[in-house]
Amino acid sequence: ENTVSIGLLGCGNVGQGVVKGILLHSNKILRKLGITLVVSKALVQDISKERAIEGVILTQKPQDILDDPEIEVVVEVMGGEHPTYSYIKEALDKGKHVVTANKLLLALHGAELQEIAQRKGICLLYEGSVLGGIPILRTIQYGLAGDQVKKICGILNGTTNYILTQMVESEKGYEEALQEAQEAGYAESDPTMDVTGLDAACKLVILCRECFDLDIPLEEVEIKGIQGLTPEEVAEQKRQGRVPKLVAEASIIDQSSSGLEKSREGIIAKVGVQWLSREAILSHVSGVDNGLSLETQLVGDLFWKGPGAGGLATGGAVLSDIVEIAKKVVVERSIGNAAR
Ligand code: HSE
Repeated sequence: ENTVSIGLLGCGNVGQGVVKGILLHSNKILRKLGITLVVSKALVQDISKERAIEGVILTQKPQDILDDPEIEVVVEVMGGEHPTYSYIKEALDKGKHVVTANKLLLALHGAELQEIAQRKGICLLYEGSVLGGIPILRTIQYGLAGDQVKKICGILNGTTNYILTQMVESEKGYEEALQEAQEAGYAESDPTMDVTGLDAACKLVILCRECFDLDIPLEEVEIKGIQGLTPEEVAEQKRQGRVPKLVAEASIIDQSSSGLEKSREGIIAKVGVQWLSREAILSHVSGVDNGLSLETQLVGDLFWKGPGAGGLATGGAVLSDIVEIAKKVVVERSIGNAAR
């Protein structure tokens, strides 16, 4: 009776990770609540492509999902700004809950989409959009609800961290390491998003919104990527005990008074390569992992590390949002039934 039907927009690495996660675990997790998750349809570009999913109807028509009254949760894992933006807007307008891992879309339109969701009384959740499998947004929203973050500093892109780690540890060239990251499914479909620092910048904008409650326009983030880094430079710095990391940082610069008075002008946000000593905490974040330090007013210094990209890690984060929504849907249904 308590079946929650899901429509997937996109069914690549992350989409298949979500379906696998549902088959592996979520029915077990939700059994005690009597909830079953069913991915009924998935929007794909190429129906004939082989995918590790069973029992899901594949379609090339977004309306098959957006107009389906049975589908209560739309999960967007196709990426990109267009046409994704209009699909998500339509889903929200139609009163469907939305889960997305799309950092570009959230950096550009997150505030507007969140406003629509709030107005409609539905959920727009996006745990998978930053730090891959590390459950950071829920930690900020719930765990740090009574605190104020003053500084964000982290490695927010798995692909570039993988490339940089390979360049240092295996003395591989940039191109070879990038190709490996693509083959492992870490990179964006257009890997320039990763290597130019744009992907990390989008994630920084989302974190600033969560931590500082401020919308920093993407174009106001100072961005420098990892292109142009040579094996010679890496080898020379390594001899001197330093490793390159693509670091994203944002902090409230005016920390006078309580530090709670914030304005956009009072925030510096930037992404760029930093040469860190081997003792620095972010130097220990290697391979596809992401790492994040937060400095907060009450708790002080916090640090997280874990898988920052990949179908299963990101799929797991997306699934955590689906589970949260499914619980809400089922509670609302039972309230509706009781009122009848
Ligand atoms: N391309 C992204 C990365 C995927 O490498 O971090 C996860 O957002």
